[in-house]
Amino acid sequence: KKRIGILTAGGDSPGLNAAIRGFGKAAIGHHGMELIGFRDGIRGLAENRFVELDSQALSGILTVGGTILGTSRDKVHKMMVDGQPTDMVPTILDNCAQDGLDGLVCIGGGGTAKNAYRLQQAGLNVIHLPKTIDNDIAHTETSFGFSTALGIATEAIDRLHSTAHSHHRIIVVEVMGHKAGWLALGAGIAGGADIILLPEIPYSIDSVAKSIRERAAAGHNFSVVAIAEGARDLKDTADLAAAEALVSGAATPESKEAAKTHRANVLAAHRGNAFRLAEALEAATGLESRVTILGYVQRGGTPDAQDRLLGTILGGAGADLVARGEYGVTVAAQGQGAAPVPLEEVAGTLKTVPLDHPWLDAARHVGTCMGD
Ligand code: F6P
Repeated sequence: KKRIGILTAGGDSPGLNAAIRGFGKAAIGHHGMELIGFRDGIRGLAENRFVELDSQALSGILTVGGTILGTSRDKVHKMMVDGQPTDMVPTILDNCAQDGLDGLVCIGGGGTAKNAYRLQQAGLNVIHLPKTIDNDIAHTETSFGFSTALGIATEAIDRLHSTAHSHHRIIVVEVMGHKAGWLALGAGIAGGADIILLPEIPYSIDSVAKSIRERAAAGHNFSVVAIAEGARDLKDTADLAAAEALVSGAATPESKEAAKTHRANVLAAHRGNAFRLAEALEAATGLESRVTILGYVQRGGTPDAQDRLLGTILGGAGADLVARGEYGVTVAAQGQGAAPVPLEEVAGTLKTVPLDHPWLDAARHVGTCMGD
């Protein structure tokens, strides 16, 4: 009998429980394996905190938001222990041997793919299932969580429209997405945002203000601006690029540390971007401006049908791979189904919006200002 461990790591996301259930039901019911679930992601793996998962434990969780196992944002090689970054890989290997595990399933986003790859290189049998609301995992067409978050952000933009319209205001709505613009672009198009600002296209505040003034001149004296949390104007983009160049060009460990501190300061100064933009737009257009940060509401609650489906498909496909002893892969969504992709191709690669993506064409076709 194969004995497998499963964990969820990184930010929570709708569909995690569907994937745990999808993997678990196939592993236990179809392939006759035993399953244990580590608590709180990598932290629970390193501390060997787990529960036995049987079919009873997997029942009734398909529609539940979050993750029944808990999660954390730890890194296997740099987990904070007593205030010190600590390499927990040897401990994790010991734990997995002690628990009699044949394999480990890591459900998570880009950070989890990196953790999974490190563990695989250290000798563990690992597969990775791609979850994130950001849709930024390489080589998978999508990830569970994205569809639900897209729906939530779209509904929010719909609702902001009527209040922006009634008050003749600019509403700047900040959408999550980390360094990728998928969520802001998708929800911006679906919610009919007038301006969409993405990390992939540095924006000019002047262009945005001009577009708002033109709308007002045409009788639309309100505007909804959907801004991805990672979007930056031209100046901030240049500042960050200079800071990145200092880090990569640093010749000594000391200068690298100093450059990293400088980069962290630059990034900190960019926080509150949506508020700075709203202020600048109010000054440039004379229209009253407000900000809405959508935040964690985008990650919470029950998964939509698409994410339940994807979690179930990828979970089941993952169990088949484990049954065949095929490890070291991300179970990617491709076409209507799943396909294994080597972890080394996924870990450390970010999937941002390509500048020739059809969604960008669609946005421009309906006259959306992209801030460039
Ligand atoms: O990756 C999902 C995500 O929600 C991003 O969109 C966001 O940048 C980040 O997580 C927030 O992280 P945390 O949960 O650590 O606040």
